[in-house]
Amino acid sequence: MFAKRVRKLSAYKTETSKTKVKLSSNELPYDLPQWLKEKVKKALADIPFNRYPDPYATELREILAQLWGVKPENLILGNGSDELILNLTLAVGEPYEGIAYPIPTFPMYRVCAQTLGRPIYEIPLGEDLDIDEKATSEVLDNYNPALLFISYPNNPTGNLFSRDRLERLRKKVTLMVSDEAYYDFCGETYIKQATEGQNVVVLRTLSKIGLASLRVGALIGEESIVKELFKVKMPFNVTSPSQVIAKVVLTEGIDFIREATQKVISERERLRAELQRLEGVKVFPSKANFFLFKTPFPAEVVHKALLQKGVLVRNVSYLPNLQGCLRVSVGKAEENDFFLEKLQQVLKELG
Ligand SMILES: Cc1ncc(COP(=O)(O)O)c(C=O)c1O
Repeated sequence: MFAKRVRKLSAYKTETSKTKVKLSSNELPYDLPQWLKEKVKKALADIPFNRYPDPYATELREILAQLWGVKPENLILGNGSDELILNLTLAVGEPYEGIAYPIPTFPMYRVCAQTLGRPIYEIPLGEDLDIDEKATSEVLDNYNPALLFISYPNNPTGNLFSRDRLERLRKKVTLMVSDEAYYDFCGETYIKQATEGQNVVVLRTLSKIGLASLRVGALIGEESIVKELFKVKMPFNVTSPSQVIAKVVLTEGIDFIREATQKVISERERLRAELQRLEGVKVFPSKANFFLFKTPFPAEVVHKALLQKGVLVRNVSYLPNLQGCLRVSVGKAEENDFFLEKLQQVLKELG
């Protein structure tokens, strides 16, 4: 009954075991403060629950446009940026035209392309985990894919690919997607080029800045691109509660969000320094709210031992170029301390 391309897929899996410290999904470690939740509660009470949401998310788009210095017409919202990745894969190019991306990277680029039966071009990163310019260039020249997805910074490696290389590659591609899910922790962006009508669109999400439960993502692009994407968007994809909560948090709670992301950035630097001090541990540079690190022991063993001690990190060691690697999200100071203490114990026990 199901298409072969669907039977080949596997359903999304994530570690759901309850642990004392969860550092596996790159979420913001801080929940909204009580005073802000009270404001959210009040705003929610005013929603007409019997009515469909605003399909254009008009007010939320205005707020986001102002925050990012663009026009509301440059924005379309998704049920998470995941949905926008799917919409792009649906709408850009003909079905027989391919989708390219470096690997390892965020898995939804592959899942969406595979679901829609599009040809896939996966280009392994270099050993330095930067984009392989020559190999990517060859794919673009030889196969002319419709989309090049770039996670900027890259998940799971945490680094920003060289901008010069990306600029040279962008000249060869129909449309590049700069997926800036971790923008708030790095500040590098393609927004200017995207709104000037160059061949790039930007993806952003509220998931990494404290609102993962809402499922709100955004695409920023030239007006004509946004207009086309509105044609394939499910009409009521962002629920009224999500629109209302996001509006309250991004206006009245914006200082909280800014302070929280700043705290994560300083914790990132502290955690990095502390991890680097541990014997045998290699830490990779990161511009996001997570790190890759490697120990002298098999990653599965370290992952399991940490879990037994109450810390959940992500095992990414099965991915190309990431043998022995684990990914840890930056948590609150006390969570990071707990993780460091448990990692030290694990290394001692295994050593
Ligand atoms: C690079 C990247 N893009 C997109 C997403 C998905 O974000 P959302 O929660 O908005 O669907 C993630 C989530 O981890 C991500 O790492």
